[in-house]
Amino acid sequence: MSRLAHLRLGVNVDHVATIRNARGGRHPDPVRAAKLAIVAGADGITAHLREDRRHIRDDDIARLMAEIDKPLNFEMAATAEMMAIALKTKPHAACLVPEKRTERTTEGGLDVAGQHNLLAPVVAKLVDAGIRVSLFIAAEPRQIETAARIRAPVIEIHVGAWCDALAEGQTAAAEAEWQRIRAGAQLASKLGLEVHAGHGLNYATAEAIAALPEVVELNIGHFLVGEAVYEGFSQTVKLMRAAMDRGRAKAVS
Ligand code: PXP
Repeated sequence: MSRLAHLRLGVNVDHVATIRNARGGRHPDPVRAAKLAIVAGADGITAHLREDRRHIRDDDIARLMAEIDKPLNFEMAATAEMMAIALKTKPHAACLVPEKRTERTTEGGLDVAGQHNLLAPVVAKLVDAGIRVSLFIAAEPRQIETAARIRAPVIEIHVGAWCDALAEGQTAAAEAEWQRIRAGAQLASKLGLEVHAGHGLNYATAEAIAALPEVVELNIGHFLVGEAVYEGFSQTVKLMRAAMDRGRAKAVS
């Protein structure tokens, strides 16, 4: 038996809601997709309730809480509105992300080092409510050390720049990002933080990152929903699970 922690797959269903919202109405339903993902091997479901409700809506969060039988990871900005919703909803986990109205997606990590005064009480309130808090940050020592200092139990490393560099064939930049992610995961683990990773992952990058023994959860959305157009959502989640298992088998603890 391996001594490595199980690598959890959190399936982000935001973009099922994006497709639904392109036409209004109820189809396709992110809650149905979440249930399919769980049957296909997801360990949890992630959904980001944005200030502008561009994809997930309040009602989706309520239905996910009521209808799925795996943990919900509620992605949220550290605003008073989202805090009120999180404390009322009490999801298993909350991931604090930066949010700008004009960005297409979550483009950079949180500046925990710059905003520790704002974030520390938010983390404390969520932790006190029994919610597992993660901070979505770049793999920078300053950010990681501050996350530990303000007592966040978990960080999620933003791996988008690495995924983008690989997709663009920028080998040197990708290698530099990879080394940053590896060192960041090691530092975070040494500081007692649980380490997750996400943003822009596909089969190949998920397989690669699964080989880092410190990483215990991947949160993946856009690629799965896009790939589902060809393969179907269940099959796509199964193929992702298989890619992660192949990568994990290469990890050295
Ligand atoms: N993790 C976090 C914190 C995110 O904000 C996102 C994107 O919303 C993801 C993971 C998933 O990224 P992607 O949709 O690119 O797989």
